[in-house]
Amino acid sequence: MRDGKKVLFSGMQATGNLTLGNYLGALKNWVSLSDEYECFYSVVDEHSITVRQDPSVLRQRARKLFALYIAAGLDPEKNCIYYQSHVSCHAELAWILNCFTYMGELQRMTQFKDKSSKHADNINAGLFTYPVLMAADILLYQTDVVPVGKDQLQHLELTRDIAQRFNAIYGDVFTIPEPYLGKAGAKIMSLQDPSKKMSKSDENENASIYLMDDPDTIMRKFKRAVTDSEASVRYREEQPGIRNLIDIYSACTGKTPEEIEKEFDGKGYGEFKPAVGEAVVSILKPLQDRCADLEKNKDYIDQAIKNNAEKAEYFAQKTLRKVQKKVGFPEKIR
Ligand code: TRP
Repeated sequence: MRDGKKVLFSGMQATGNLTLGNYLGALKNWVSLSDEYECFYSVVDEHSITVRQDPSVLRQRARKLFALYIAAGLDPEKNCIYYQSHVSCHAELAWILNCFTYMGELQRMTQFKDKSSKHADNINAGLFTYPVLMAADILLYQTDVVPVGKDQLQHLELTRDIAQRFNAIYGDVFTIPEPYLGKAGAKIMSLQDPSKKMSKSDENENASIYLMDDPDTIMRKFKRAVTDSEASVRYREEQPGIRNLIDIYSACTGKTPEEIEKEFDGKGYGEFKPAVGEAVVSILKPLQDRCADLEKNKDYIDQAIKNNAEKAEYFAQKTLRKVQKKVGFPEKIR
């Protein structure tokens, strides 16, 4: 709790091109949380280097993501949005927490197993201890709630275990974070295989709508989206492709699936698919325009980066000092 508000933390990586799924499933909802919670949203660039990156591309993307946070509606005066690498406490706390995390726990992480099979030539120690850095992110701010996707729940569980273990030894140092279970963001599936989540790392370009896709590309991808031969716009398990398109249309327009079924009653996919495409364009185009404007406003972005890094640092330092004292590091002579 801070000023009567619960603390919320989340982060996103700047690797790959963000998709409509990232926006509708996460970013859009973050905006609606900023009144109720004291929010920290980090661009987690330190996590990104567990996989080899081109430095200039990473830097560019991190800046773009920062601008996108603002373009999506996160007011940088109200939300602490900052680069993880600007607050050295993250790496420092991660080291300490590494000493309170067991090899066996990290070996069980499904994301580690996935990533090490995908990057078999570079199974580095950072990939292995990735969840510990994530625990440090969360625990540094005495976070109460963390909105995360299903794929990150295991990491959050581990964070709680580490925090409880630490508290059991040293007293109440960390707030134990809970997953955020509010209104879940829409789960957006691949346009080419609706049994898979829409992913920024999908090899098939037509499977994902990227946030920076132009209107023609968006329309084309929706026209090619996989559906079925039922030829009716119905929200049913048996029609996963159409169901996904209804979810997307619903998230963009605020209409319920029932309203959408009615709207397209008796109409074919030839009419429905372009309608979904247009709904998406009507959301993404303004977002892209705001992003482009912001990127021109270099001073504004720079100032937000600086102010928020200082703010994050202030809170992070408080926790880190407490932890350092608890584990027995000598106090600095000032
Ligand atoms: N690992 C998260 C992901 O890939 C990103 C992340 C890093 C994060 N630190 C975090 C999410 C802390 C929530 C809280 O999605």
